Amino acid sequence: MIALEKATKPLKGDVFVPGDKSISHRSIMFGALAKGTTEVTGFLESADCLSTIDCFRKLGVQIEHSMRPTNGVPTITVHGKGLYDFKAPDSTLYTGNSGTTTRLMSGILAAQKFDSMITGDRSIEQRPMNRIIKPLSQMGAEVVSVMGNGCAPLRFTGGKTLRGINYINPVASAQVKSCIMLAGLYAEGDSVVYEPALSRNHTEIMLSSFGADIHNEVARDGSAVCILHPGMPLVGRKINVPGDISSAAYFIAAALIVPDSEVLIRNVGINKTRAGILTVLTQMGADITLLNVDESSEPKADILVKYSELHGNENNQFVIGGKDIPTMIDELPVVAILAATGNFDTIIKDAAELKIKESNRIDTVVSGLTKMGCDIEATDDGMIIHGGKPLKGADINSHSDHRLAMSFAIAALAAEGTTRIIGDECVGISYPSFFKDLQGLL
Ligand code: S3P
Repeated sequence: MIALEKATKPLKGDVFVPGDKSISHRSIMFGALAKGTTEVTGFLESADCLSTIDCFRKLGVQIEHSMRPTNGVPTITVHGKGLYDFKAPDSTLYTGNSGTTTRLMSGILAAQKFDSMITGDRSIEQRPMNRIIKPLSQMGAEVVSVMGNGCAPLRFTGGKTLRGINYINPVASAQVKSCIMLAGLYAEGDSVVYEPALSRNHTEIMLSSFGADIHNEVARDGSAVCILHPGMPLVGRKINVPGDISSAAYFIAAALIVPDSEVLIRNVGINKTRAGILTVLTQMGADITLLNVDESSEPKADILVKYSELHGNENNQFVIGGKDIPTMIDELPVVAILAATGNFDTIIKDAAELKIKESNRIDTVVSGLTKMGCDIEATDDGMIIHGGKPLKGADINSHSDHRLAMSFAIAALAAEGTTRIIGDECVGISYPSFFKDLQGLL
C-alpha cells in the first residue's frame, strides 16, 4: 500500500521512462527466432518482459544480461536458435501477468515439433484466448484450452503442418495479429490479417528489420491489412528500445493535472499506432511539444508538457472513439483521470476491449473514480465522465492492474486529502521505478 497526498507545488524537471514494453517483448522473441546474435539496449526489465525471457530460456535459448564494455550500457544478448531448433520445455511455460507473452508465444508454440503447455497468473487464466485458438486452429494447429473455458492453460500438440490464413479479426489487436504472423512464419503460404483499424505495428517493423517479408496495407474498405510471405531467413541484429509512451502517459497527465507544471520526458517512442494520447490531449488543449524528433523506423522524441486547462468542444463535450482507440488503448485509464478534472463531459466509446485487460478497466476505473467523488458512468463500450467535481482522496484497490495503480497515483495529485493505492507493487509489471520517478518530479 502506498499513501499519496495532493500535490502542493508544480511538477518540474525531466525524466527518462523505461523501455517500451511491446518492443522489449518482441526483441527477445524475434531475437530467439533469428539466426545469430541480437543485442538489445534500453530493454524494459519489468516482470512482464522477464516472463518472456524465462519462457525462451525454457525453450533452450541462451539469453544474457551484461554491461557493454565500452560504455557500461545494460545489454541483453539473445543467442538466436532460428525457427526450428528450440528444445521441448521440461515444464509448463509460465507467462506471469503478461498477455503479450501468452498470445505471441502461442503463435510460436503452435508450430513446434514438440508438445507444450503455457499458462500465467490468475488474471491471465481469465483472459480470452479463443481469439488466438480460433485462427491458430484454422491454420492447422492443435491448441486446446485445458479447462475448456477458452482461457489458459493452453496445450499445444507438436508436429502439425500449418498453412497460411486470411483472417478477418473483428477487433484491432496487435496481440492477435502478431500471434498469427509468428505462426505464419512456419506456415505454407501467405498469412493475411484484416483489422478494423491498425493496431500497434511493432511486429511488422521489427520482423521486417530481421529480414521477414511482412508489411501493412490499407484495404479498399479502409480496414488495415497485415501480410506475411514466409520463407525469408531471420538474422539477429542490434535493437535500441525507445522509452514507453504508455509509461510516459502518467507524467504527461501529471503535468496537465497540477497547475504550473512543466515536465520533459526524454527519448519516448512516438510510433503513430501508439501516440493517440498526444493527438487527443492536444485537441483537448494540452500544451505538448515534441523536441529532438528522430524519425527512425520506430520514431522517438522528447516530450515537453506544460500545464494547460483542458476543454471540450463548443458543446462542452469531448468524444474519444473509433480508430483512435487502438492507438491509446492502454492510456485510457489515465485519460479518464484527466477527464475527471476537466470542466466538461468526456465520452469514451468503441473501447469494449478495456473489459478484458489486466482488470476490467471499465469497471475498475469507474468504481475508483466514483470513490474519489467523480460523476462517471460505465457504458457497454467505455464510459462517460462528467468532469469538474473536485476529487477527494480515497482507498483505491489496484486489482493487481499496473495501469490502474499508476493512473490513480496521478489522480491522487489532484485529490484533496490522502489517496491510498492498495496493491501498488503491481507497478513492477511494466514500470518498477514508477513511484521513485514520480517522487523525483514532485
Ligand atoms: C500489446 C497490445 C495491446 C496492449 C498490450 C500490449 C502488444 O493489446 O493492450 O498492453 O504488445 O502487442 P491488444 O493487441 O490485445 O489490444
